Amino acid sequence: MTDKMQRIISFCKEKGFVYPNSLIYGGMANSWDYGPLGIELIENIKRTWWDRFVRGRTDMVGISSALIMNPKVWEASGHTSGFCDPLVECKSCHARHRADHLVSESDWKKMEVEMEKEDDKEGFVNKNLPSCPNCEKKDYTAPRNFNLMFKTFVGPVENDASVAYLRPETAQGMFVNFSNVLSSTRRTLPFGIAQIGKAFRNEITPKNYIFRTREFEQMEIEYFIEKPEKEEDWQEHFEYWREEMRSWLDLLGIDRKNIKENDIPREELAHYSKKTVDFEYHYPFGVKELYGLAYRTDYDLKNHEKMSGENMKYRDPKTGEEYWPHVIEPTFGVERTLLAVITEHYDEEDLGDGDKRTVLRLPFFLSPVKAAVLPLLKNKSELTKKAGEIFEELSCDIACHYDESGSIGKRYRRQDEIGTPVCITIDHDTIKDDTVTLRERDSMKQVRIEKSRLKEVLKDVVKGDTSLFRQDA
Ligand code: GAP
Repeated sequence: MTDKMQRIISFCKEKGFVYPNSLIYGGMANSWDYGPLGIELIENIKRTWWDRFVRGRTDMVGISSALIMNPKVWEASGHTSGFCDPLVECKSCHARHRADHLVSESDWKKMEVEMEKEDDKEGFVNKNLPSCPNCEKKDYTAPRNFNLMFKTFVGPVENDASVAYLRPETAQGMFVNFSNVLSSTRRTLPFGIAQIGKAFRNEITPKNYIFRTREFEQMEIEYFIEKPEKEEDWQEHFEYWREEMRSWLDLLGIDRKNIKENDIPREELAHYSKKTVDFEYHYPFGVKELYGLAYRTDYDLKNHEKMSGENMKYRDPKTGEEYWPHVIEPTFGVERTLLAVITEHYDEEDLGDGDKRTVLRLPFFLSPVKAAVLPLLKNKSELTKKAGEIFEELSCDIACHYDESGSIGKRYRRQDEIGTPVCITIDHDTIKDDTVTLRERDSMKQVRIEKSRLKEVLKDVVKGDTSLFRQDA
C-alpha cells in the first residue's frame, strides 16, 4: 500500500471519517463504517448531488425503490445469467482471484476468445496467467463464472421459490417504475429518473479500502430520450451528460488533470451498453474508475416488457407513436466520491521553520463542520458562557463545533484537519464590544466583525465567498 494511502486511512480513522467495521470482533473483511464526520461529508455529497441533478432541474424526478425486488427483474436485466466475474482458485493456497484482475481486463477478454478454442481450460489459464499473488505458485483451477448478486430467501421457507437478491444496482428501480412515473408526473421526453441508494455485489476481490466493497451506495440517473433516428441523436445527449459529469467534478474541486476519461472498447462493454465512458480518478493506488456514463439503448425497457408482459412504451403526445425510449445513464459511486474528495483535498502544508499542518481543503459546502466556536480562555466563565450562547444561536442553521480544550493554536489545527472553513474566537473584547474574530482555514487570515453579522457572514463564507478575508489583507 502506498504511503499516501496509509496516511489517509489512519487520518480517516483517527478523525472519525471511516472506521473498520466490527472492529471489536477482529473486523469484517472489506467492510467499513462511517463515523461522525464521514456521515456528514457523505450527506453533503448526496445532498449537493440531489439538489443539482434532481431538484434543480425541471426534466428530472427522484424515486427511492426497494433493495429487494422481484427476482424476475434480474432475469430481464440480464444480471441472473450475465452479471459474473471470472473466478480462478489457487489450488496451493486456496486464494480466489478475479482472472481479469490478474491480467488487465482487456487482456483477459482476448484470452477468453483464445480459451474458447481449447478443451483444457485449466491448462490454458496456468499457461497464460501470472503466478498467484498470494503464494507465487501457479496451480489454478479452470475459471468459472461467479455471479456477483447476493442471494437471500424471502420469508421463512428456504427453497427455489423464495430466492431473492439484494439489488446489484439502483438502475432497475428506475426502469420498473418508468410507467408509474410517466402516469403520475405526466412527463414528456426527454426526462430523467434519479435515485440514491445502496447496492450490493459479492465481489471476489474487494480491495483498496472503500474503493471496491460488497456494500456501497450509488447515485444514478436514467435519462430517457426519444428513439434516435441516427447516431448523432443519442450522441448529443451523451455528450451533454459527459459535460454535466465534468462540471460536477469541478464543483467537488477535483482537478481535471486527475481525471481520465476512458472510452471503453467495444469488446469490453457491459451487456446492456452500446457506448460507455469511465471517468477514472488518480487514486493513491492507481488510476481507477470513479464514475460511468453509458448509452443503454432501449435494452432495459424492452426486456422488462418481454419478461412482464406489461407495456413499457412511451406514447408520443404529438404523433401518437408508441416506442421504447432510449436511455443515457450517468452513474456515480458515493464511496468512490468520498475517497476521491479526501485524496484530492488532503494536504500536509509546510509552514516553514519545521512547522507543518494538515489541512483538508474541502470546498466549504462539503465540509462536515462549517464553523467552530472557540472561547479563548477555558476557565473564564464569562467567555465560555458567551461562546455557548453563540454556539446555540448558530447551530440551528449551521453545522458547528464547540471546543474549549487546549491552546487556541491546537484548536485551530484540529479544525484545519477536518476541513472547517472558519473558526470563531471569543475573547475579552467580545464581552466589551460584542465583536468576534473570524479565522479562515486556507489563508489563516483573521478579521474582526460584529457578532450581530455572524450568521449572515458565515452563510456567505460557506457558499465560498471569502472576500471578507481578502479585503483585510
Ligand atoms: N447501473 C450501472 C452500474 O451499476 P457500474 O459501473 O457497475 O454501473 C456504477 O457501477 C458505479 O458504482 C461505479 O462507477 C462506481 O462508482 C460504483 N461501484 C461499482 N461497484 C462498486 C463497488 N464494488 N464498490 C464501490 N463502488 C462501486
